[in-house]
Amino acid sequence: MLKHDLVKEILISEVQIKKRINELAIEVKKHYSNIEKPLVLIGILRGSLFFLADFMMALDLNCAVDFMYVESYAGQKQRSFEPRIKLDIFTNIKDHDVVIVEDIIDSGRTLVKLLDHLKLKAPKSIKILTFLDKKIKREVKIEADWFGFEVSDNFLIGYGLDYQEELRNLPYVAIADLDKIKKLENKKAELNV
Ligand code: IMP
Ligand code: MG
Repeated sequence: MLKHDLVKEILISEVQIKKRINELAIEVKKHYSNIEKPLVLIGILRGSLFFLADFMMALDLNCAVDFMYVESYAGQKQRSFEPRIKLDIFTNIKDHDVVIVEDIIDSGRTLVKLLDHLKLKAPKSIKILTFLDKKIKREVKIEADWFGFEVSDNFLIGYGLDYQEELRNLPYVAIADLDKIKKLENKKAELNV
């Protein structure tokens, strides 16, 4: 696929993503080798879309899937309000092993909110799997049990990550070109669109 115009640099290629997901699937399978009930994966919309799908298919384990939608900072470059749960799971997770599947952990605030919420549903265990981890940006004490790649403090797009709900469908992870985005925003403001 061609480099999108708003991409400054491709950070993680399709090949690297696939390889790492296969490694993660093996690690996660090993951890749950003795469970009796199906593992419940909870994908956090919308960013985890591709990671969840690819990970699930690579995971050789009996599992179910459900989704939550948490509004955190909605594809802006900076978080503008506290995370709010907009969609809850429908699955009864009581006594089930649960894995939260996230696209990226930044401040960690979304996950704290999710964990507090899901713990009330009395699962047997809850673990966190994130595709990307911006460890350097953490504002609260929370760590993923498994992560795909540690990334530095850049605004990232692609493979589920958005800029104002767009660019999620790039098949790689890229650093967004903030200068070009700024120009685009100025142009939009001028045209009042
Ligand atoms: P946190 O609550 O600060 O950990 O934010 C986590 C959420 O912010 C993620 O699930 C993403 O939706 C979003 N996010 C964080 N960093 C980026 C980024 O670089 N690009 C796009 N979305 C991001
Ligand atoms: Mg997200």
